[in-house]
Amino acid sequence: MGMRLAWWWLFPVMLSAESSFITPFEYGKMLYENPRGIGCVHCHGKEGEGSIIAQYQHKGKLKPLIAPPINELSYERFSQATLKENKVMPKYHLEDSELQAIYRYLQEMKRYKSTPPLPKKQK
Ligand code: HEC
Repeated sequence: MGMRLAWWWLFPVMLSAESSFITPFEYGKMLYENPRGIGCVHCHGKEGEGSIIAQYQHKGKLKPLIAPPINELSYERFSQATLKENKVMPKYHLEDSELQAIYRYLQEMKRYKSTPPLPKKQK
């Protein structure tokens, strides 16, 4: 918790210094969780795997409202969906570089998940 607070506090300083204190992975994660609007993570899940956002009644049946998986799409499809009006998802005003960072972050997350963890380095 302490770490997290410190990180957020430092963030504007890092940006203005235009240095690379944060890796592209961390930058993508930050945007995925906080993209100037409601975080993608809330609907699409931690790794972009998709989730059920809500359930609703339709003709007497309980139906799920689904946020689809977004970690298996082409970049074109990914970016276009994010920038347009959708039925449920809000429209975002993200730069191409920001969308790329999110996209790469999700690809990385998928890679981590599908490969066994690296052996720990001996200290
Ligand atoms: C409020 C929940 C919500 C949030 C927040 C949200 N999405 Fe979505 N997203 C959806 C839903 C639901 C759809 C399906 C289209 C629709 O009904 O709006 C969707 C569709 C998409 C698609 C299209 C998937 C496809 O198969 O073509 C992409 C890409 C996507 N979202 C990316 C993002 C990104 C990136 C963010 C954050 C910048 C984000 N979404 C934030 C709910 C959300």
